[in-house]
Amino acid sequence: MTGSPRAAEAGADVFEGRVDAWDTWRAAPWNRLRYRLVEQTLDRGFGRAGAGCRVLDVGGGDGGDGLGLAERGHRVTILDHSPALLDRAAARAEAAGLAGRVRTVRADLDTMPALDLTGPGGEAPGGFDLVLCHNVLHYRADVAGTIGLLVRMVGPGGTLSVMAPNPAMDVLSRAVRLADPAGALTLIDAPTLRSETFEHDMWRLEPGSVEAALASAGCPVRHRYGIRCVMDLITDDARKADPAFSAAVERLELELCDREPYVRTARFWQLLAVRDGGPGAVPPGPPVT
Ligand SMILES: C[S@@+](CC[C@H](N)C(=O)[O-])C[C@H]1O[C@@H](n2cnc3c(N)ncnc32)[C@H](O)[C@@H]1O
Repeated sequence: MTGSPRAAEAGADVFEGRVDAWDTWRAAPWNRLRYRLVEQTLDRGFGRAGAGCRVLDVGGGDGGDGLGLAERGHRVTILDHSPALLDRAAARAEAAGLAGRVRTVRADLDTMPALDLTGPGGEAPGGFDLVLCHNVLHYRADVAGTIGLLVRMVGPGGTLSVMAPNPAMDVLSRAVRLADPAGALTLIDAPTLRSETFEHDMWRLEPGSVEAALASAGCPVRHRYGIRCVMDLITDDARKADPAFSAAVERLELELCDREPYVRTARFWQLLAVRDGGPGAVPPGPPVT
C-alpha cells in the first residue's frame, strides 16, 4: 500500500490530545446513528444476544460499541492505548450498571499477543467469541499485519468485525453534500485524507484489500454492511437533529445496509469474518450477504 509519509502510525498522543473533539464527533446526530446501526448489524451478523459471549473491542475508545454489547449480556474487554478514552468507557459502564461485565485494558494493540487477556471469570483463554476493531485500521501503517494480530485474538469459529471509512463516500459526500466537485475530483485517487477530529492523516482503505487480508489470515468474510448509505448525502444537517426525520432515515438505512449497490458507497464499510476451525464455522464459499 502506498501513501503519504504523514499517514504513518498514529500514536496514543494523537487520540489523547483530541478527546474533546472526539466527544463533539460522537454527539453529532449522524454519528449517534452510526452506533445504533452497528448495534443492528452485529445483531444480524453475530447475534447471540444474552449468550454471555466473550467480546474484545480493540481500539474500543470510550466504549461506543462495547457498552451496547455489554447491555446485551456479553462480557466485554475494551483495549485501547488512550487512558482518557478508557476512563470515559469505565465511567459510562459504571453509570449504566455494567461495570461487572466491562473491563478496560490500557495497551497498544501491537502488544496483544503477549498480554494475558484472560478475564477474572476465566473468560477467553482460547480466544474471544467476537473481536471488534472499528475505525482503527485506517490509522495503521501495516493493515495486513494488524489483521493478522486481530485474527489471533479470535477463537476458532469466532467472529471478527472490522470497520473503516469508505473511500467512495469521501468523493460522493464532498461532491453532493458539500457541493464541491473540484474537491471531490482531487479525492478520487488520494491515498490519504486528513481527519479533522484527530488532526492526523488516515489511509483510505478499500474494503476489498481488507477482505483479502482477512481471507489470507484464515478468517473469510461472511457479511458485508454499509453504515450510513444515505445520511451523508443529505445537505440539510439541521434536519438530522429532528427525531422524526432521524427515525425515518434510520429505517431506510437499516433496509439498505446489506443491499447492493448501496452497501458499496456507504460512509463506513463493515466486514464480519469468521475464523476457520470452529464447530460452527461456515465452510469456505462466497459470503452470504
Ligand atoms: C477513531 S477511534 C474509534 C473508537 C471506537 N472503536 C469507535 O468506533 O467508537 C480510534 C481508537 O483507536 C485507538 N487506537 C488507535 N491505535 C491504537 C493502537 N495502536 N493500540 C490501541 N488503541 C489504538 C485510539 O486510542 C482510539 O480510541
